Amino acid sequence: MKKNTIIIGTGAYIPPNIVRNADFCQERFYTEKQEPFTVENKEIIQKFYEITGIQERRYLDDDMKNSDMATEAAIEAIKDAGIDKETLDYIIVAHNFGDIKKNTIQTNILPSLASRVKYRLEINNPNCIAYDLIFGCPGWVQALIHAKSFIDSGLANRILVIGSESLSRVLDMHDRDSMIYSDGAGAVILEGIHSPDKKGILGHAAQSNTLNEAYYLYLGQSFMKDSDPAIRYIKMNGRKIYNYALTNVPVAMQKCLENSGVHIDEVKKVFIHQANEKMDEAMILRFYKLFGQDEPPQYIMPMSIHKLGNSSVATVPTLFHLVKTGQLENHVLNEGDVVLFASVGAGMNINAVAYKL
Ligand SMILES: CC(C)(COP(=O)(O)OP(=O)(O)OC[C@H]1O[C@@H](n2cnc3c(N)ncnc32)[C@H](O)[C@@H]1OP(=O)(O)O)[C@@H](O)C(=O)NCCC(=O)NCCS
Repeated sequence: MKKNTIIIGTGAYIPPNIVRNADFCQERFYTEKQEPFTVENKEIIQKFYEITGIQERRYLDDDMKNSDMATEAAIEAIKDAGIDKETLDYIIVAHNFGDIKKNTIQTNILPSLASRVKYRLEINNPNCIAYDLIFGCPGWVQALIHAKSFIDSGLANRILVIGSESLSRVLDMHDRDSMIYSDGAGAVILEGIHSPDKKGILGHAAQSNTLNEAYYLYLGQSFMKDSDPAIRYIKMNGRKIYNYALTNVPVAMQKCLENSGVHIDEVKKVFIHQANEKMDEAMILRFYKLFGQDEPPQYIMPMSIHKLGNSSVATVPTLFHLVKTGQLENHVLNEGDVVLFASVGAGMNINAVAYKL
Protein backbone atom coordinates (compact mmCIF):
# COMPACT_ATOMS: atom_id res chain seq x y z
CA MET A 1 0.00 0.00 0.00
CA LYS A 2 1.22 3.50 -0.87
CA LYS A 3 0.76 6.57 1.29
CA ASN A 4 -0.62 9.28 -0.96
CA THR A 5 -1.19 12.99 -0.34
CA ILE A 6 -4.78 13.58 -1.40
CA ILE A 7 -6.90 16.73 -1.56
CA ILE A 8 -10.01 15.82 0.41
CA GLY A 9 -11.73 19.22 0.41
CA THR A 10 -11.63 22.59 -1.37
CA GLY A 11 -12.96 26.06 -0.64
CA ALA A 12 -12.67 29.63 -1.87
CA TYR A 13 -13.63 33.14 -0.90
CA ILE A 14 -14.39 35.39 -3.85
CA PRO A 15 -15.18 38.91 -2.62
CA PRO A 16 -18.59 40.13 -3.80
CA ASN A 17 -17.38 43.61 -4.88
CA ILE A 18 -16.88 43.71 -8.63
CA VAL A 19 -14.56 46.40 -10.01
CA ARG A 20 -14.97 46.72 -13.78
CA ASN A 21 -12.37 48.10 -16.19
CA ALA A 22 -14.59 51.12 -16.83
CA ASP A 23 -14.28 51.99 -13.12
CA PHE A 24 -10.67 53.04 -13.81
CA CYS A 25 -11.76 55.75 -16.27
CA GLN A 26 -11.64 58.36 -13.50
CA GLU A 27 -8.10 57.49 -12.33
CA ARG A 28 -5.07 59.56 -13.33
CA PHE A 29 -2.34 57.28 -14.65
CA TYR A 30 1.32 58.29 -14.72
CA THR A 31 4.41 56.68 -16.23
CA GLU A 32 7.29 55.31 -14.16
CA LYS A 33 8.91 58.72 -14.60
CA GLN A 34 5.90 60.36 -12.93
CA GLU A 35 4.72 61.90 -16.20
CA PRO A 36 1.04 61.79 -17.15
CA PHE A 37 0.14 59.58 -20.13
CA THR A 38 -0.70 61.51 -23.26
CA VAL A 39 -3.34 58.98 -24.35
CA GLU A 40 -6.81 58.88 -22.81
CA ASN A 41 -7.67 56.39 -20.07
CA LYS A 42 -10.17 54.69 -22.37
CA GLU A 43 -7.35 53.79 -24.73
CA ILE A 44 -5.09 52.58 -21.88
CA ILE A 45 -7.89 50.41 -20.51
CA GLN A 46 -8.66 48.93 -23.94
CA LYS A 47 -4.99 48.07 -24.43
CA PHE A 48 -4.85 46.62 -20.91
CA TYR A 49 -7.84 44.40 -21.71
CA GLU A 50 -6.26 43.21 -24.97
CA ILE A 51 -3.05 42.18 -23.17
CA THR A 52 -4.43 40.71 -19.96
CA GLY A 53 -7.95 39.54 -20.90
CA ILE A 54 -9.15 41.06 -17.61
CA GLN A 55 -12.65 42.58 -17.70
CA GLU A 56 -13.22 42.82 -13.98
CA ARG A 57 -11.63 41.97 -10.66
CA ARG A 58 -12.75 41.67 -7.01
CA TYR A 59 -11.86 43.84 -4.01
CA LEU A 60 -12.62 42.78 -0.45
CA ASP A 61 -15.06 44.72 1.76
CA ASP A 62 -13.63 47.77 3.55
CA ASP A 63 -14.11 46.19 6.97
CA MET A 64 -12.43 42.88 6.00
CA LYS A 65 -8.79 41.87 6.09
CA ASN A 66 -6.78 39.22 4.30
CA SER A 67 -7.02 36.70 7.16
CA ASP A 68 -10.83 37.05 7.12
CA MET A 69 -10.88 35.88 3.50
CA ALA A 70 -8.46 33.07 4.37
CA THR A 71 -10.76 31.98 7.20
CA GLU A 72 -13.84 31.94 4.93
CA ALA A 73 -12.04 29.77 2.36
CA ALA A 74 -10.83 27.47 5.15
CA ILE A 75 -14.34 27.05 6.61
CA GLU A 76 -15.62 25.96 3.19
CA ALA A 77 -12.72 23.51 2.66
CA ILE A 78 -13.18 21.96 6.12
CA LYS A 79 -16.90 21.56 5.48
CA ASP A 80 -16.27 20.07 2.04
CA ALA A 81 -13.78 17.57 3.51
CA GLY A 82 -16.24 16.69 6.27
CA ILE A 83 -13.49 16.64 8.88
CA ASP A 84 -13.24 17.71 12.51
CA LYS A 85 -11.11 20.90 12.48
CA GLU A 86 -9.37 19.69 15.68
CA THR A 87 -7.73 16.89 13.66
CA LEU A 88 -5.66 19.30 11.56
CA ASP A 89 -1.90 18.84 12.11
CA TYR A 90 -0.85 21.99 10.23
CA ILE A 91 -2.30 25.21 8.87
CA ILE A 92 -0.12 26.83 6.21
CA VAL A 93 -1.17 30.21 4.86
CA ALA A 94 0.59 31.48 1.73
CA HIS A 95 0.42 35.28 1.27
CA ASN A 96 2.82 38.17 0.72
CA PHE A 97 1.42 41.27 2.41
CA GLY A 98 -0.25 40.02 5.58
CA ASP A 99 -3.29 41.87 6.92
CA ILE A 100 -3.60 45.51 5.92
CA LYS A 101 -6.51 47.49 7.32
CA LYS A 102 -8.27 49.71 4.79
CA ASN A 103 -6.70 53.20 4.66
CA THR A 104 -3.57 52.16 6.54
CA ILE A 105 -0.20 51.43 4.95
CA GLN A 106 1.17 48.99 7.46
CA THR A 107 1.39 45.26 6.85
CA ASN A 108 0.44 43.29 9.94
CA ILE A 109 1.92 39.82 10.32
CA LEU A 110 2.07 39.73 14.10
CA PRO A 111 0.68 37.23 14.75
CA SER A 112 1.00 35.31 11.50
CA LEU A 113 -2.06 34.95 9.30
CA ALA A 114 -2.04 31.22 10.03
CA SER A 115 -2.36 31.99 13.77
CA ARG A 116 -5.20 34.38 13.03
CA VAL A 117 -6.99 31.75 10.94
CA LYS A 118 -6.53 29.12 13.66
CA TYR A 119 -7.90 31.61 16.21
CA ARG A 120 -10.90 32.46 14.03
CA LEU A 121 -11.59 28.75 13.45
CA GLU A 122 -11.51 28.32 17.27
CA ILE A 123 -9.19 25.32 17.07
CA ASN A 124 -8.08 24.20 20.56
CA ASN A 125 -5.52 21.59 19.55
CA PRO A 126 -2.04 22.98 20.41
CA ASN A 127 -0.48 20.33 18.18
CA CYS A 128 -2.02 21.98 15.15
CA ILE A 129 0.97 24.03 13.96
CA ALA A 130 0.16 27.29 12.19
CA TYR A 131 2.68 29.15 10.03
CA ASP A 132 2.87 31.47 7.02
CA LEU A 133 4.69 30.91 3.77
CA ILE A 134 5.98 33.85 1.73
CA PHE A 135 7.02 32.79 -1.76
CA GLY A 136 5.44 35.33 -4.12
CA CYS A 137 2.45 34.23 -6.19
CA PRO A 138 3.66 30.56 -6.22
CA GLY A 139 3.25 30.40 -2.40
CA TRP A 140 0.17 28.19 -2.41
CA VAL A 141 1.72 25.68 -4.82
CA GLN A 142 4.88 25.71 -2.67
CA ALA A 143 2.74 25.00 0.40
CA LEU A 144 1.43 21.87 -1.36
CA ILE A 145 5.06 20.75 -1.65
CA HIS A 146 5.60 21.41 2.10
CA ALA A 147 2.44 19.47 2.92
CA LYS A 148 3.47 16.46 0.86
CA SER A 149 6.90 16.41 2.50
CA PHE A 150 5.35 16.54 5.98
CA ILE A 151 2.90 13.77 5.13
CA ASP A 152 5.57 11.58 3.44
CA SER A 153 7.86 11.95 6.46
CA GLY A 154 5.13 11.08 8.96
CA LEU A 155 5.33 14.51 10.59
CA ALA A 156 1.70 15.22 9.79
CA ASN A 157 -1.33 13.58 8.25
CA ARG A 158 -3.93 16.31 7.75
CA ILE A 159 -3.00 19.78 6.55
CA LEU A 160 -4.98 22.91 5.68
CA VAL A 161 -3.25 24.89 2.92
CA ILE A 162 -4.56 28.37 2.09
CA GLY A 163 -3.56 31.01 -0.46
CA SER A 164 -4.98 34.44 0.39
CA GLU A 165 -4.19 37.97 -0.73
CA SER A 166 -5.71 41.45 -0.51
CA LEU A 167 -3.74 43.20 -3.25
CA SER A 168 -6.29 46.03 -3.38
CA ARG A 169 -4.64 47.31 -0.17
CA VAL A 170 -1.21 47.80 -1.83
CA LEU A 171 -2.24 49.30 -5.14
CA ASP A 172 -0.90 52.53 -6.59
CA MET A 173 -4.01 53.76 -8.37
CA HIS A 174 -1.79 55.99 -10.54
CA ASP A 175 0.00 52.96 -12.04
CA ARG A 176 -1.90 51.35 -14.95
CA ASP A 177 -0.40 47.95 -14.01
CA SER A 178 -2.51 48.06 -10.83
CA MET A 179 -5.54 47.13 -12.92
CA ILE A 180 -4.21 43.54 -13.06
CA TYR A 181 -4.61 42.89 -9.36
CA SER A 182 -7.48 41.45 -7.38
CA ASP A 183 -8.36 39.96 -3.97
CA GLY A 184 -9.42 36.48 -2.90
CA ALA A 185 -8.60 33.26 -1.08
CA GLY A 186 -8.53 29.56 -1.92
CA ALA A 187 -7.98 26.57 0.38
CA VAL A 188 -7.59 22.81 0.36
CA ILE A 189 -7.34 20.07 2.97
CA LEU A 190 -4.65 17.49 2.24
CA GLU A 191 -4.54 14.09 3.85
CA GLY A 192 -2.16 11.11 3.84
CA ILE A 193 -4.24 8.15 2.66
CA HIS A 194 -3.04 4.59 1.99
CA SER A 195 -4.19 3.05 -1.28
CA PRO A 196 -2.92 0.40 -3.72
CA ASP A 197 -2.32 2.95 -6.56
CA LYS A 198 -0.18 6.03 -6.69
CA LYS A 199 -2.40 9.10 -6.70
CA GLY A 200 -2.66 12.56 -5.17
CA ILE A 201 0.54 14.60 -5.41
CA LEU A 202 2.82 12.70 -7.80
CA GLY A 203 5.83 14.99 -7.91
CA HIS A 204 6.98 18.56 -8.23
CA ALA A 205 9.63 21.00 -9.47
CA ALA A 206 10.58 24.43 -8.11
CA GLN A 207 13.24 27.11 -8.54
CA SER A 208 14.23 30.46 -7.04
CA ASN A 209 16.10 32.80 -9.39
CA THR A 210 17.48 35.87 -7.67
CA LEU A 211 20.77 37.05 -9.18
CA ASN A 212 19.11 39.16 -11.87
CA GLU A 213 15.48 38.58 -11.00
CA ALA A 214 15.03 39.31 -7.27
CA TYR A 215 13.51 42.77 -7.78
CA TYR A 216 11.28 42.19 -10.81
CA LEU A 217 8.39 42.60 -8.32
CA TYR A 218 9.00 45.02 -5.47
CA LEU A 219 7.52 47.74 -3.30
CA GLY A 220 8.03 51.23 -4.71
CA GLN A 221 6.86 54.81 -4.64
CA SER A 222 3.65 55.93 -6.35
CA PHE A 223 3.97 57.06 -9.97
CA MET A 224 1.99 60.21 -9.11
CA LYS A 225 4.02 63.39 -9.34
CA ASP A 226 5.40 64.53 -5.96
CA SER A 227 4.10 61.41 -4.22
CA ASP A 228 5.35 60.58 -0.72
CA PRO A 229 8.47 58.37 -1.09
CA ALA A 230 7.83 56.85 2.34
CA ILE A 231 4.65 55.13 1.15
CA ARG A 232 5.23 52.09 -1.01
CA TYR A 233 3.04 50.08 -3.37
CA ILE A 234 3.30 46.89 -5.38
CA LYS A 235 5.33 47.53 -8.54
CA MET A 236 6.55 45.28 -11.30
CA ASN A 237 8.80 45.19 -14.29
CA GLY A 238 6.16 43.57 -16.50
CA ARG A 239 8.33 42.99 -19.57
CA LYS A 240 11.05 41.23 -17.55
CA ILE A 241 8.50 39.10 -15.69
CA TYR A 242 6.91 38.14 -18.98
CA ASN A 243 10.20 37.01 -20.50
CA TYR A 244 11.29 35.26 -17.29
CA ALA A 245 8.01 33.36 -17.03
CA LEU A 246 8.06 32.30 -20.65
CA THR A 247 11.63 31.04 -20.44
CA ASN A 248 11.36 29.23 -17.12
CA VAL A 249 7.82 28.08 -16.30
CA PRO A 250 7.30 25.66 -19.23
CA VAL A 251 10.66 24.03 -18.45
CA ALA A 252 9.71 23.66 -14.77
CA MET A 253 6.39 22.10 -15.80
CA GLN A 254 8.27 19.65 -18.05
CA LYS A 255 10.68 18.81 -15.22
CA CYS A 256 7.72 18.26 -12.90
CA LEU A 257 6.22 15.71 -15.31
CA GLU A 258 9.60 13.96 -15.58
CA ASN A 259 9.94 13.86 -11.77
CA SER A 260 6.40 12.49 -11.52
CA GLY A 261 6.70 9.85 -14.24
CA VAL A 262 3.77 11.38 -16.12
CA HIS A 263 3.48 11.44 -19.94
CA ILE A 264 2.31 14.73 -21.44
CA ASP A 265 -0.74 13.01 -23.01
CA GLU A 266 -1.96 12.01 -19.54
CA VAL A 267 -2.33 15.67 -18.48
CA LYS A 268 -6.01 16.63 -18.49
CA LYS A 269 -5.83 20.19 -17.08
CA VAL A 270 -3.17 22.76 -16.34
CA PHE A 271 -4.07 25.10 -13.48
CA ILE A 272 -1.66 27.90 -14.12
CA HIS A 273 -1.32 31.07 -12.05
CA GLN A 274 -3.79 33.62 -13.43
CA ALA A 275 -1.17 36.30 -14.10
CA ASN A 276 -2.54 37.63 -17.36
CA GLU A 277 -4.12 35.98 -20.39
CA LYS A 278 -1.44 36.79 -22.94
CA MET A 279 1.32 35.43 -20.70
CA ASP A 280 -0.61 32.29 -19.69
CA GLU A 281 -1.44 31.47 -23.31
CA ALA A 282 2.18 31.97 -24.35
CA MET A 283 3.36 29.70 -21.51
CA ILE A 284 0.98 26.84 -22.33
CA LEU A 285 1.91 27.08 -26.01
CA ARG A 286 5.61 26.89 -25.18
CA PHE A 287 5.01 24.01 -22.75
CA TYR A 288 3.39 21.86 -25.45
CA LYS A 289 6.08 22.88 -27.97
CA LEU A 290 8.65 21.30 -25.61
CA PHE A 291 6.90 18.01 -26.36
CA GLY A 292 6.77 18.67 -30.13
CA GLN A 293 3.08 19.63 -30.12
CA ASP A 294 2.16 22.86 -31.94
CA GLU A 295 -1.28 23.18 -30.37
CA PRO A 296 -2.27 22.52 -26.75
CA PRO A 297 -5.38 20.31 -26.40
CA GLN A 298 -8.69 22.19 -26.32
CA TYR A 299 -9.93 23.13 -22.82
CA ILE A 300 -6.59 22.18 -21.25
CA MET A 301 -6.17 25.48 -19.40
CA PRO A 302 -9.11 26.71 -17.29
CA MET A 303 -9.07 30.51 -16.91
CA SER A 304 -10.70 32.74 -14.32
CA ILE A 305 -8.67 35.89 -15.01
CA HIS A 306 -11.35 37.54 -17.18
CA LYS A 307 -13.72 37.91 -14.25
CA LEU A 308 -11.48 37.47 -11.21
CA GLY A 309 -8.21 39.19 -12.20
CA ASN A 310 -4.86 38.29 -10.64
CA SER A 311 -5.26 37.57 -6.93
CA SER A 312 -1.68 36.30 -6.51
CA VAL A 313 -1.45 33.16 -4.28
CA ALA A 314 -5.23 32.74 -4.43
CA THR A 315 -5.59 32.20 -8.20
CA VAL A 316 -4.60 28.52 -8.43
CA PRO A 317 -6.59 27.14 -5.44
CA THR A 318 -9.62 29.27 -6.40
CA LEU A 319 -9.51 28.06 -10.00
CA PHE A 320 -9.15 24.44 -8.86
CA HIS A 321 -12.10 24.87 -6.50
CA LEU A 322 -14.25 26.39 -9.28
CA VAL A 323 -13.52 23.51 -11.66
CA LYS A 324 -13.81 20.84 -8.96
CA THR A 325 -17.26 22.12 -8.03
CA GLY A 326 -18.42 22.44 -11.65
CA GLN A 327 -18.56 26.23 -11.64
CA LEU A 328 -16.46 26.80 -14.77
CA GLU A 329 -18.05 26.17 -18.15
CA ASN A 330 -16.39 23.51 -20.39
CA HIS A 331 -14.26 22.18 -17.56
CA VAL A 332 -14.87 18.95 -15.65
CA LEU A 333 -12.59 16.74 -13.60
CA ASN A 334 -12.89 12.97 -13.35
CA GLU A 335 -11.43 10.38 -11.01
CA GLY A 336 -8.00 9.34 -12.32
CA ASP A 337 -7.33 12.61 -14.21
CA VAL A 338 -3.80 13.98 -13.95
CA VAL A 339 -3.59 17.76 -13.56
CA LEU A 340 -0.73 20.19 -13.23
CA PHE A 341 -0.58 23.17 -10.87
CA ALA A 342 2.02 25.76 -11.92
CA SER A 343 2.95 29.25 -10.82
CA VAL A 344 5.39 32.11 -11.14
CA GLY A 345 5.95 35.26 -9.12
CA ALA A 346 7.94 37.50 -6.80
CA GLY A 347 11.30 36.15 -5.76
CA MET A 348 11.43 35.31 -8.63
CA ASN A 349 10.06 31.87 -7.90
CA ILE A 350 8.51 29.22 -10.10
CA ASN A 351 7.03 25.83 -9.34
CA ALA A 352 4.79 23.03 -10.57
CA VAL A 353 3.01 20.09 -8.95
CA ALA A 354 1.54 17.06 -10.75
CA TYR A 355 -1.60 15.68 -9.12
CA LYS A 356 -3.72 12.60 -9.87
CA LEU A 357 -7.37 12.73 -8.81
C1 LIG B 1 2.70 44.22 -18.26
C2 LIG B 1 2.57 43.65 -19.66
C3 LIG B 1 1.12 43.29 -19.83
C4 LIG B 1 3.01 44.67 -20.68
O1 LIG B 1 3.22 44.13 -21.96
P1 LIG B 1 4.58 44.36 -22.77
O2 LIG B 1 4.27 43.95 -24.16
O3 LIG B 1 5.69 43.70 -22.07
O4 LIG B 1 4.81 45.88 -22.53
P2 LIG B 1 5.34 47.02 -23.39
O5 LIG B 1 5.95 47.94 -22.42
O6 LIG B 1 6.16 46.61 -24.57
O7 LIG B 1 4.00 47.59 -23.92
C5 LIG B 1 3.25 47.04 -24.97
C6 LIG B 1 2.05 47.89 -25.13
O8 LIG B 1 1.17 47.69 -24.02
C7 LIG B 1 0.96 48.90 -23.32
N1 LIG B 1 0.88 48.56 -21.90
C8 LIG B 1 1.82 48.04 -21.11
N2 LIG B 1 1.37 47.84 -19.87
C9 LIG B 1 0.08 48.25 -19.87
C10 LIG B 1 -0.94 48.30 -18.89
N3 LIG B 1 -0.76 47.86 -17.64
N4 LIG B 1 -2.13 48.81 -19.24
C11 LIG B 1 -2.35 49.24 -20.50
N5 LIG B 1 -1.45 49.18 -21.47
C12 LIG B 1 -0.24 48.71 -21.17
C13 LIG B 1 2.12 49.78 -23.69
O9 LIG B 1 1.78 51.14 -23.61
C14 LIG B 1 2.36 49.38 -25.13
O10 LIG B 1 1.40 50.00 -25.93
P3 LIG B 1 1.70 50.35 -27.49
O11 LIG B 1 1.90 49.04 -28.19
O12 LIG B 1 0.45 51.06 -27.91
O13 LIG B 1 2.92 51.21 -27.45
C15 LIG B 1 3.44 42.39 -19.87
O14 LIG B 1 4.78 42.77 -19.72
C16 LIG B 1 3.11 41.29 -18.95
O15 LIG B 1 2.15 40.59 -19.18
N6 LIG B 1 3.93 41.05 -17.90
C17 LIG B 1 3.68 40.15 -16.84
C18 LIG B 1 2.95 40.87 -15.77
C19 LIG B 1 2.33 39.96 -14.76
O16 LIG B 1 1.67 39.01 -15.08
N7 LIG B 1 2.56 40.27 -13.51
C20 LIG B 1 2.07 39.55 -12.44
C21 LIG B 1 3.14 38.63 -11.98
S1 LIG B 1 2.56 37.50 -10.85
